[in-house]
Amino acid sequence: ALLFAFSKNKENIRCLTTLGHFGFECLPTQLVNKSIQKGFSFNILCVGESGIGKSTLINTLFNTNLKESKSSHFYSKVGLKVKTFDLHERNIPLKLTVVKTVGYGDQISKEASYQPVVDYLDAQFELYLQEELKVHRSLVTYHDSRIHVCLYFITPTGHSLKSLDLLTLKNIDRRVNIVPLIAKADSLSKSDLQRFKHNIMSELVSNGIQIYQFPVDDEATAEVNTTMNCKEKKKSNMLLPFAVVGSMEEVKVGKRMVRGRHYPWGVLQVENENHCDFVRLRDLLLSANMEDLKDQTHTQHYECYRSSRLLKLGFNDTGPDNRPVSFQEMYEAKRQEFQVQCQREEEELKHSFMQRVKEKELTFKDAEKELQDKFEHLKRIQQEEILKLEEERRKLEEQIIEFYKTKTASETSQTQLYTSVKRD
Ligand code: GTP
Repeated sequence: ALLFAFSKNKENIRCLTTLGHFGFECLPTQLVNKSIQKGFSFNILCVGESGIGKSTLINTLFNTNLKESKSSHFYSKVGLKVKTFDLHERNIPLKLTVVKTVGYGDQISKEASYQPVVDYLDAQFELYLQEELKVHRSLVTYHDSRIHVCLYFITPTGHSLKSLDLLTLKNIDRRVNIVPLIAKADSLSKSDLQRFKHNIMSELVSNGIQIYQFPVDDEATAEVNTTMNCKEKKKSNMLLPFAVVGSMEEVKVGKRMVRGRHYPWGVLQVENENHCDFVRLRDLLLSANMEDLKDQTHTQHYECYRSSRLLKLGFNDTGPDNRPVSFQEMYEAKRQEFQVQCQREEEELKHSFMQRVKEKELTFKDAEKELQDKFEHLKRIQQEEILKLEEERRKLEEQIIEFYKTKTASETSQTQLYTSVKRD
């Protein structure tokens, strides 16, 4: 419907002013309304040592107290704490997922520190890929857990990156948008901080580590983003990595209450751009580039994972002769390849089974022969024993006969002697 309003100008001439939009110029409004109804989601990964200020910074960024328990320094391996929060800002709903490393940097093995992070990032891509490959997909209701940004908390040593930082960043830079931060930046002096920032950026460049490139194709954000991407900035006003300070504490400065950290020598205001880069980080991360971070995750990092995963599974867009291959052809080729492989494996199994049967038969035969030999040997010994006993019995019987003969003879001679004595 057309909405018009009548108004009078200075010369008292009536003119019509449109009050609303009409036609397809309303498309953006429709999109905005639909998006607000659907709600937004954002997934942040915080990588950094225990107690470096990850939770405090997330609380400061979203101006909420996201209740969390402190992590121990004595975990035997690195874990990831995943928490999802439903936030609202002026009726805009945001499903925020915060994934925090636990025990990072407390391990002796560096690989054991970064591998769980790499595995977690891949696992979220895999979940999304599995959903995409389903026949009955539910991507509209699917809770996308792919990480949109990784806030990498650098320990404020004032020197340069540690080898664990470089290893981790190198292993995750193709999987996630990295935004490096110098944590607890209030512990460094201004000149130390600039030198530190410079050293970090040089190290990232010399090690070929890709960090998030702020987009410059949108007029609204191009100017501020271009300054962020510039690597050759003057050493004195370098922005990246953001030097951040987190705090939920309200401190009185003059007549105002501000969020800051109170020290014996003064107050550090978290939202004062002269004190730290917190406001710049919040603006660039949440106000200007949240949608781009999500786009980059889908179009760059997920795409990279998806194509390498599908290639590994044997899918390809072209055949060996560079001819486009249809899904049906690919499926047939894969099926045949699989059948051949199955047959080969079956043959190998049969062969090894026969081999094992033969080997077992041989062992049984050997065992049987051994038993037979043993039996023969025992039988021979037994027969010899029987013969020996027979011989002894025969000898014994001869001795008994001899004994009886002697006994009869002695009895006869005794009787004769008795009779002759009586006669005399
Ligand atoms: P875990 O959950 O144990 O890994 O800790 P975390 O990295 O989430 O650190 P957390 O935010 O719990 O902060 C740990 C301590 O550091 C708290 O005492 C904070 O007050 C303090 N802290 C946080 N941010 C800053 C900061 O920017 N500067 C200073 N000086 N201290 C900070």
